[in-house]
Amino acid sequence: MRKQIAAANWKMNLDLKGAEKLMDEILEQYQEMPDGHQAIFAVPFPYLLMVQDKLSGRKGLYAAAQNCAATGNGAYTGEVSADMLKGMNIPYVIIGHSERREYYHEDNQVLTRKTDLALAAGVSPIFCCGEPLHIREAGTQNRYVEQQLTESLFHLSADQITGFIIAYEPIWAIGTGKTASSDQAQEMHRHIRSVFAAKYGDAVAGSISILYGGSVKAANAADIFGKPDVDGGLVGGASLVATEFVGIMNSLKK
Ligand code: PGA
Repeated sequence: MRKQIAAANWKMNLDLKGAEKLMDEILEQYQEMPDGHQAIFAVPFPYLLMVQDKLSGRKGLYAAAQNCAATGNGAYTGEVSADMLKGMNIPYVIIGHSERREYYHEDNQVLTRKTDLALAAGVSPIFCCGEPLHIREAGTQNRYVEQQLTESLFHLSADQITGFIIAYEPIWAIGTGKTASSDQAQEMHRHIRSVFAAKYGDAVAGSISILYGGSVKAANAADIFGKPDVDGGLVGGASLVATEFVGIMNSLKK
């Protein structure tokens, strides 16, 4: 079975003390996850080593970066490369979050470069896609998401796509308290899987973990994660509250 994943996206929140406290609270409440389940903590760069240290020796728990540079090392003030993440043994990086696309103008081409650099470094991308409200209202969300995926990822080999992680996050549901219904999530996740199946075949498409993101909380996680093509979630706001996120971790499909 493909991996079931609860991924926390702390975004640009918490000071160091608050980050340490949150991580400690989660680890106090953490119940051992079954094989095939993972929890991933995408934290601000300055907290990566602290979080990684606290997670060491814990089964199925990993640190992740929220972004990486679109270039290799060099004279790029303020950037962090995929190679640097690899050098710190960080296994995952979020690429293409809608906030990066919107506020930092990252387009499908930039995201292709980031994906390639992450894969070359041996850091696994958590690649985000999702439509804004006006696209959903126009009913063209399937085509929109398909284009995001094909333009950034379809140059990759079947081997590279095997076991890949995608996060579908409808922008209108992020941080708004408005969740897509579990049926809306399932419908899009099935579409995403079929897009990969058409290019790479059913076996490769079946190996991809597709996470849902957008106002996931402990109270709605089991319903959303229970859908056949939803393999967990990428969680913002609720990942900042230990009891919430532990509830979400425990809601992954068995
Ligand atoms: P949210 O954010 O859970 O606060 O809606 C999700 C995300 O942006 O990854």
